Amino acid sequence: MPHVKIPSQTKEASRQSVDRVKQIMNAGLSREVLKQVTAELASLAAKKDLFSRSDFPPPDGPTNILYEVVSDPDGQYTLYVSSANKGKETPPHNHATWAVIAGIAGDELNKIYRRQDDASDNETVDLVLDREHIVRAGNPIALMPDDIHSIHVHSEEPTLHLHLYGRRLSDLKDRLQFDLATRKAKWFPPNPNIR
Ligand SMILES: [Fe+2]
Repeated sequence: MPHVKIPSQTKEASRQSVDRVKQIMNAGLSREVLKQVTAELASLAAKKDLFSRSDFPPPDGPTNILYEVVSDPDGQYTLYVSSANKGKETPPHNHATWAVIAGIAGDELNKIYRRQDDASDNETVDLVLDREHIVRAGNPIALMPDDIHSIHVHSEEPTLHLHLYGRRLSDLKDRLQFDLATRKAKWFPPNPNIR
């Protein structure tokens, strides 16, 4: 996949937005604080001119591509633009850090699960579907580190979404994916399509 240079005005606006997120996060991580972070990221996503298809093209086939826009040197507060095609899906997974996703274009069905076992081991995991949420422009989602979701892109239009994480995805050696059939959990490796 070709590497596309991210426009300087996109980087600058994103950096300013992430700086505001850091101010918000000074209050400490909670669902209430993440709601404020979500509002900030949604307002950045609403500036559609900063995130064009030509600068952030979708990949080929039913997969996704993540463009790293800004990240702290230690990997905290990493913002990606993600574009996924119809058919892209993931198993249920957590993030081992907080995550906020705000849509610019396209629809991504999120299934959010509740873990009912005591999480003492990864051999007999009991997940139940809790709710569904379609991430699209104006309908962002926030996830705490232990929240579990799966994603399913059904829209013909590829997604173009902002993903902001507390840590860089390539640094996450401790996040889990869950197999609903075998009820086992194991490490969920980073997405290989990060640019
Ligand atoms: Fe996720």
